[in-house]
Amino acid sequence: MLCLGIETSCDESALALVEDGRLLDECLHSQEAVHALFGGVVPELASRRHLTSLPFLLARLLERTGRNIHDVQVVAAARGPGLMGSLLVGMGMAKGLALSLNVPLVGVNHLHAHLLAAGLEQDIVFPALGLLVSGGHTHLYRVISPSEFELLGRSLDDAAGEALDKTASMLNMPYPGGRFIDALAAMAEPDPRMFPRPYLDNKNLNFSFSGLKTAVSLHLAKHPHLRLPRLPDNEALMSWARKNPEICTVCASLNWSIVEALRIKIERELDLGYPYRSLIAAGGVAANSMLRGILRKTAEQRSLPLILPSATLCTDNAAMIGYMGWLLATAGWSHDLNVEAVPRGKP
Ligand code: KG4
Ligand code: ZN
Repeated sequence: MLCLGIETSCDESALALVEDGRLLDECLHSQEAVHALFGGVVPELASRRHLTSLPFLLARLLERTGRNIHDVQVVAAARGPGLMGSLLVGMGMAKGLALSLNVPLVGVNHLHAHLLAAGLEQDIVFPALGLLVSGGHTHLYRVISPSEFELLGRSLDDAAGEALDKTASMLNMPYPGGRFIDALAAMAEPDPRMFPRPYLDNKNLNFSFSGLKTAVSLHLAKHPHLRLPRLPDNEALMSWARKNPEICTVCASLNWSIVEALRIKIERELDLGYPYRSLIAAGGVAANSMLRGILRKTAEQRSLPLILPSATLCTDNAAMIGYMGWLLATAGWSHDLNVEAVPRGKP
């Protein structure tokens, strides 16, 4: 079965063809450079860009795969959560194609798709404990099967990626700063006393990362020289950091506080004895090297296979939407044409 996946939930416009659970190809246009000028995603600009990019991406995808649009047997689009205007563009395209091709339409939960994205690269063993860490979400799920997800805990305020991006911007790093924190953190050892490990003094599986902004801003008030000068490009940023190891220690310590909060809640759930057969980490922040290293250790100690998508499958992409659409369609799921986008909550 050939499934066209459409991803427009935030600032990546992407289309992918997935055939029988295998990715044929993906065409992705990242709007990051446009939004970086504003220090964050501008919803109106994002939806306008999706509208203009998608037709070109579709033409390129068909050309690259040598397929015809009439070969498509199911159309899947991210239904939410995400930015309403952006979701509507992708859902509108999906509905138009499903109607004209007379094929099923599947609206996909973007968060569930992130968690199962690694299925394109390896077998996922269920039930799995799934950590979804992105710019908009920090959710811990019990993934019972490809269509059964139980939410165990979530961030009560900022998502882990949001905390990284906001603190990176306090340090004057470009948006989104998560990957710069990661790169600079790799050049130093964390100081565990520098920042608190947030929201652990409780018995639940929720997270809270907004306090880290205050902790970083207090640290910067005491050490103002840590703010980076405005640098022309990423190369300049890296070479400045190499000459200023103190900033690398700040990044490593901040990264460590976030990663430890995630690890401790994961261990807390694993200690409760549910018969998990694997541990999944997904979403943009799952590209973080410190998180990947620490989760590898945790999984090894618990003799659980760790399922980590490769970096391109961690950040927003259409391959995961096509894959999830294919999984659901083969299990007999589809939506009517009046299915709505769900910007918040559970689609
Ligand atoms: O999943 P994603 O592409 O989009 C959302 O659905 O939010 O995640 C984007 C987030 C951003 O906060 C970005 O800073 C973060 O993922 N990110 C990283 C890394 N690469 C991307 N955070 C830490 N380390 C990275 N290497
Ligand atoms: Zn995402």
